[in-house]
Amino acid sequence: MADFQSVFGATPTGVWAAPGRVNLIGEHTDYNDGFVLPVALPHAAKATARRRDDGVLRLFSEQGDGEVTELRVDGLAPGSVTGWAAYPAAVVWALREAGHDVGGADFHFDSDVPSGAGLSSSAALECVVATAYRDLYELELTGPELALIAQRAENAFVGVPCGVMDQMASMCCVEGAALFLDTRDLAHRHVPLDLAGQGLRLLVIDTRVKHDLGDGAYAELRAGCERAAELLGLRALRDLPPDRLPQALDRLPAELRPLVRHVVTEDVRVEQAVARLDAGDLAALGPILSAGHASLRDDYRVSCPETDLAVAAAVAAGALGARMTGGGFGGSVLALVEAGTLDHVAAAVTTAFSDAGYAAPRTFAATPAAGARRVG
Ligand code: GLA
Repeated sequence: MADFQSVFGATPTGVWAAPGRVNLIGEHTDYNDGFVLPVALPHAAKATARRRDDGVLRLFSEQGDGEVTELRVDGLAPGSVTGWAAYPAAVVWALREAGHDVGGADFHFDSDVPSGAGLSSSAALECVVATAYRDLYELELTGPELALIAQRAENAFVGVPCGVMDQMASMCCVEGAALFLDTRDLAHRHVPLDLAGQGLRLLVIDTRVKHDLGDGAYAELRAGCERAAELLGLRALRDLPPDRLPQALDRLPAELRPLVRHVVTEDVRVEQAVARLDAGDLAALGPILSAGHASLRDDYRVSCPETDLAVAAAVAAGALGARMTGGGFGGSVLALVEAGTLDHVAAAVTTAFSDAGYAAPRTFAATPAAGARRVG
């Protein structure tokens, strides 16, 4: 551990935190203007920071290589920074691009959001920087406005064409609730998720299969959805009512049909899930999660043998439902379980992995945590 003082030889102004997330349901709907239902994790990126008035941005991460990255804010340009430092640099660039006259800062980062696990470690890093800058430079920006700046940072500076779910979850979640978000206009509502009160737990299973959105597959899926919307004469797939799905599929080339079917049915699943949560029936989420996984596996085709095995083993061991969460191609699975079966389900998945010759997964129970905030 090298603290702020020993790295930068100065006293910090404050400490900020922004969480990673799991998504209950609503996967690959955000870039189709659809609905999502994420929950913030207790795992967060923490930033200890101070403002600098000489236009220099200095970045140090406990998870990095022990070096300080030093950049001039007026020299930031897409492609100019690589590795983890691109994410914080991108946010400073995006703030300036949006017309905010912000200068430099010293940042010491420490994150316990597992990276490459589909739990939004990148959005957490972006959002902690956005939140710290809001306070250090007294910017009058709301959570959704900061989320949009963080998304633009990732799209235009880092070069990943992600939607806005992860950044909105990291900025706007509150403790004890899921975030029901309409990604078209960012209207959102906090839906209470009192798992413990109903004797339930959310088990997160990190398969340790590296999930990487930068590899092109995500961009291809997004392009496929946009092409389908265009062929159907729609602004986005969100605008296709479920009862018109069969006729719409007939009008599309075969390779686009499963994508459209996933997006349209997934939006319905989000609305069903919210209705069950509003009715206080959390256990009813289980079958909705499992149906979401089948759709991601069979139609959207973003699962992998390890996530499929984790889902199957969790359900066989008594989970009420399970699905992969995040972009896919590896990453994490979440399972809804009765509190008393948590250890049993986790152990069953671990055994199934070992029997299949896979590396041991990392498992933990997630409680819905708070969004980005100043913590010190
Ligand atoms: C990644 C992206 C999100 C979203 C999910 C899939 O996490 O960053 O915008 O598209 O994948 O639901």
